[in-house]
Amino acid sequence: MPQQAIRDILQLSPSAQTLSVSGWVRTFRSNRFIALNDGSCLDNLQCVVDFEAFDPEFLKRITTSACIRATGTLTASQGKGQSVELAVTKLEVLGDSNPEEYPLQPKKHSLEFLREIAHLRMRTNTFGAVMRVRHHAAFAVHRFFNEQGFFYLNTPIVTASDAEGAGELFRVTTLPAQNAATNDAGEVDFTKDFFGKSTNLTVSGQLEGELGAMALGKIYTFGPTFRAENSNTARHLAEFWMIEPEMAFYDLHANMDLAEAFTKSIIAYVLERCPEDLAFLDQRLAEEEQQKPKEQRSEQGLLDKLRFVQENPFVRLTYTEAVEILQRSKPNQKKQFQYPVEGWGIDLQSEHERYLVEKHFKAPVILYDYPANIKAFYMRLNEDGKTVRAMDVLFPGIGEIIGGSQREERHDVLVEKMKAVGIEPDHLDWYLDTRKFGTCVHAGFGMGFERMVQFITGMGNIRDVIPFPRTPGKAEF
Ligand code: 4AD
Ligand code: MG
Repeated sequence: MPQQAIRDILQLSPSAQTLSVSGWVRTFRSNRFIALNDGSCLDNLQCVVDFEAFDPEFLKRITTSACIRATGTLTASQGKGQSVELAVTKLEVLGDSNPEEYPLQPKKHSLEFLREIAHLRMRTNTFGAVMRVRHHAAFAVHRFFNEQGFFYLNTPIVTASDAEGAGELFRVTTLPAQNAATNDAGEVDFTKDFFGKSTNLTVSGQLEGELGAMALGKIYTFGPTFRAENSNTARHLAEFWMIEPEMAFYDLHANMDLAEAFTKSIIAYVLERCPEDLAFLDQRLAEEEQQKPKEQRSEQGLLDKLRFVQENPFVRLTYTEAVEILQRSKPNQKKQFQYPVEGWGIDLQSEHERYLVEKHFKAPVILYDYPANIKAFYMRLNEDGKTVRAMDVLFPGIGEIIGGSQREERHDVLVEKMKAVGIEPDHLDWYLDTRKFGTCVHAGFGMGFERMVQFITGMGNIRDVIPFPRTPGKAEF
């Protein structure tokens, strides 16, 4: 039987018409008021039970987390907090739940504890809100690209290449874990493996995305990517979702314009579509901030921050200009950076990125034209011979949310760049073919979806914006 969602029921006016609703009991107060939640929205439906009409033994089964179906009519609510409530005439327990054993009590639990019970944490207000916002943000991604004439391209998850050349790969194999066949050199013989070669989970769909752009014009991917980097931080996952648009005939500046418009459109959509969940998360963050010492508190609340990003232009400057600012900065002069900014050529650390965004500009920043030797092989070399047309979009509280570039479209330059970092050109002959057969200026970027959801929801740890996080040592559920 199709159910009416609580989200819709709460919009109705009182009426004599009978309706049924199913969900999970949050609380049962005074043997009379059931707060019922079905996940469709943050709010519960108050179901009012006339306990004299029910067997007391039966009512004992209405426990926190039990699954029930309530039938009755909608009446104007006497209590505060809701305009309608359900006057219950019929009550069924669909699934009992022993409150003694149920790990989620109707009280505040720490996020660390909730991570241990990720199979149940979506039943809390916080995780319900985060997951609904995540859904709407994903929908906004597809909506934006669809409206802009992009095609959604599905790139492979199992691949033989390392798009970023960083070597942080998860191997995919059907060879036995022990005593795998070896070749004459004593190395594992991957010609005996399922695909006849060594394969891994993708770190990025970009290289295949470029093939799509060179045929369809504008494409985007939106899929899981995997990195075996041993970074135990609040911003790294071993399995994360990435959105990677790739466009023929876009240079770096067009790429930056797209990245900015894209980011703002997701925020605008979520602000419009998720007001209740965002208001709840705004409040949650404000309470969390109150726990911090005054000087560490953020100046803006969550909703203010979202509106600020949506309404203001992102600051754009070159890597070279950024290094000059950082060198002159107070924390650098006072040796407060963990990694001192010694000069041009250093790889920027997140403390430097956050200084630029949070202290210096107090706005999202796009840095571009980075030194070639700290960026990936596929980025277009500038005329100066030492910088590449790379860009990173940096966000307050998050740091890098997007990384992208104009691509090296010149065949011979690309081959030289590959050789310089030890990539065998033969291994990527299919990628080089696009540079042989009708090459053109093109560009693209990758947005870490969880980092974006972190920014939108104000959650401090990336493990709390994906249902089942994968991090070093953790692959439960
Ligand atoms: O900067 P990255 O490594 O760039 C690429 O992979 C390019 N191929 C993208 C492109 O040009 N098509 O990763 C892109 C973004 C980062 O800015 C960050 O937001 C996110 O992916 N990211 C991660 N998010 C969560 N956990 C990790 N371990 C991440 N590594 C990168
Ligand atoms: Mg990057």
